[in-house]
Amino acid sequence: MKRIGVLTSGGDAPGMNSAIRAVVRKASYRGVEVYGINYGYAGLVAGDIRKLTSKDVSDIIQKGGTMLYSARYPQFSTEEGQLKGIEQLKKYGIEGLVTIGGDGTFKGANALTKHGYPCVGIPGTIDNDIIGTDYTIGFDTAINTVLDALDKIRDTATSHVRTFVIEVMGRDAGDIALWTGVGSGAEQIIIPEVDFDITKIANSIREGRQRGKKHTLIVLAEGVMGGNEFAEKLDAIDNFHVRVTELGHVQRGGSPTARDRVLASQFGAHAVDCLIDGKGGIALGIQGEKIVENDITDVTSGKHRNEPNLALYQLNQEISN
Ligand code: F6P
Repeated sequence: MKRIGVLTSGGDAPGMNSAIRAVVRKASYRGVEVYGINYGYAGLVAGDIRKLTSKDVSDIIQKGGTMLYSARYPQFSTEEGQLKGIEQLKKYGIEGLVTIGGDGTFKGANALTKHGYPCVGIPGTIDNDIIGTDYTIGFDTAINTVLDALDKIRDTATSHVRTFVIEVMGRDAGDIALWTGVGSGAEQIIIPEVDFDITKIANSIREGRQRGKKHTLIVLAEGVMGGNEFAEKLDAIDNFHVRVTELGHVQRGGSPTARDRVLASQFGAHAVDCLIDGKGGIALGIQGEKIVENDITDVTSGKHRNEPNLALYQLNQEISN
């Protein structure tokens, strides 16, 4: 293999730049050229492609966002879009592709694989919702960003004896809420994977107040409902002085943590090795401390569910209620 491509697609995640850098540098180490594709699959179809040298990726390991830009491009689910993409790859002599992103990105890579084109997917999303990997690039940075915000909210919640509902991202997954709920000592964690009982939550807030608790933090995953809707449900029961904070896209930015940078570097280098060794149709993951190669068709088939670590949910019930 003489030339490979790399793209980032879907919602950006801190650490994507570190992964791009690793792809370019490892390829150069192994004597292979890299072409960067701007704006994910949209740029692929449009032929927005440029050569990347080792120098082009200097000074990006620490930067949030993605130097290759990103886009959501549902048109890539059509065969027409996929064939156009392959045409562009062939035009540039690109023999294999590294795709960095979440579920939609992996589905695109799976489609290319089905057309016989070798792809390796690197899990990059703050949601941590990809099957076959314990962690995705960006998750660690996002939860640290959320944690910082929660610590600040706790200060003001205590001063005013208020209840805060903090809505966090995660799409249909509860991992961000789960980890930041435990990490901040939040009284309640509400995630799509576990049913909640609003009356029990109200009673628990009242009991906390009677014990002298000055604040209540409720970390709510966006996949359950919006923060305001949840607050209305609580208000309908009693006046808990509820305030709502929707953290929004601040969760997607910022300099990646050490963990995300290292993980991204491992994934990027491993993806290059796979392609050079003639392996395609792979979704990389980390299980324990080991980088694993999953079958991308298997990961995107919809047959498996991504399960959060529910032991953390139980732990929080026991130590933070
Ligand atoms: O997948 C990452 C994510 O940030 C989700 O947590 C969120 O639901 C979604 O993307 C928001 O997408 P957009 O930036 O397109 O509004």
